[in-house]
Amino acid sequence: MLAPQQHWWNIPPPMVPSPEHKQRVGIFTGGGIAPGLNAVLSTAAKVLKESGHEVLGIPEGWKGMLEVRPDIVNLTRMSRRELHDLMSTGGTTLRSSRTKIREEQYAAVAEAVRGYGLTGIIAIGGDDTLGQARALHEQGIVQAIGVPKTVDNDVFGTDRTFGFETACDRAAGVIRDMRTDAESMTRVAIVEVMGRNAGWITLHGGEAGGADITLIPEFPIDEDTLIKRVQEVFSEQGADGKPANAAVIAISEGYFGDDKNETDAFGHGKMRGAAQRLAEVIKRKTGIGTQEQVIGYHARNGAPAAHDAIFASRLGAYAGTLASQNTYGRMVALRDGQITDVPLSEVAGGRYVTDDFYDPVTMTMRLVPKKLQHAITI
Ligand code: F6P
Repeated sequence: MLAPQQHWWNIPPPMVPSPEHKQRVGIFTGGGIAPGLNAVLSTAAKVLKESGHEVLGIPEGWKGMLEVRPDIVNLTRMSRRELHDLMSTGGTTLRSSRTKIREEQYAAVAEAVRGYGLTGIIAIGGDDTLGQARALHEQGIVQAIGVPKTVDNDVFGTDRTFGFETACDRAAGVIRDMRTDAESMTRVAIVEVMGRNAGWITLHGGEAGGADITLIPEFPIDEDTLIKRVQEVFSEQGADGKPANAAVIAISEGYFGDDKNETDAFGHGKMRGAAQRLAEVIKRKTGIGTQEQVIGYHARNGAPAAHDAIFASRLGAYAGTLASQNTYGRMVALRDGQITDVPLSEVAGGRYVTDDFYDPVTMTMRLVPKKLQHAITI
């Protein structure tokens, strides 16, 4: 582990190995894509390459660790320029998959590790990908470093995941634009936002995009209370004394739960239909017209915003440095504004919105911390 005073800006130069200590590190991306994946690959590879190690890009996440694949990418061969160009591109150049490694497949992974000649791996992924990295590391099958990734921002152990800010920007843009529809057509615009069971993107995107009401899975609101709030917002008078006659609602895709008829390898159901379901309730109970807009994959496709490109680059460089120092069993994380590393064994469960961040009464982001609110209202 890096000493506590060693942050990303003062990490010592990676250890230059003697030939017999040269490592071959495998790196891969698992789970859904997030803007910034290629930046992590790029800088981890740069650091490892500059410190004399080899970096193999393993295709399709854990799937590529089940057998020796001919389509590996030797990232060490890429020039400084090529690696830098990779940084600001979207998706993942190594491709990704949601592959669950069952215990009876551990032997196959061990065989692939031997076949590839890997010293260790850098796994870039969310809860599922990193949970498997942790298990295989603890079983002694492959030593691993984790880099948390997901637009959902719900990985436990880190204050932020890369891709999240880009997704919030995209969500905010659509939510903002939907007000033009709501105001011009006298109706309620309902924007459905990614995030599975975590409401972070909806909350941040909703606030930044000016949503009147934000609905997240962590805080289900009683139907009558919600309808009352919609009517209040719709009829709220502006400075000219006229009612708004419009409302914009941001709703998480997971607000009503998932669709268990279509599940992935980890048993997560497809998220769909939240905006439509809400629209039906509003129409039925108020008679007001509605229009749904599903942001869907637009939130996580395409190039990272500058913030995420830089953030992801720093995470990748940090992970590459840990690997070059032969320090495995760690997850790179953002804690209190600093990039640091925590035990991989801490990867567990998710990280969800609490009432420190959400106010179920106004149904929007809590902007004044709860601990100060008391002082402000008296
Ligand atoms: O977990 C990230 C995420 O983008 C969720 O927000 C979304 O529900 C899910 O992935 C979609 O996954 P898939 O790519 O498997 O359809």
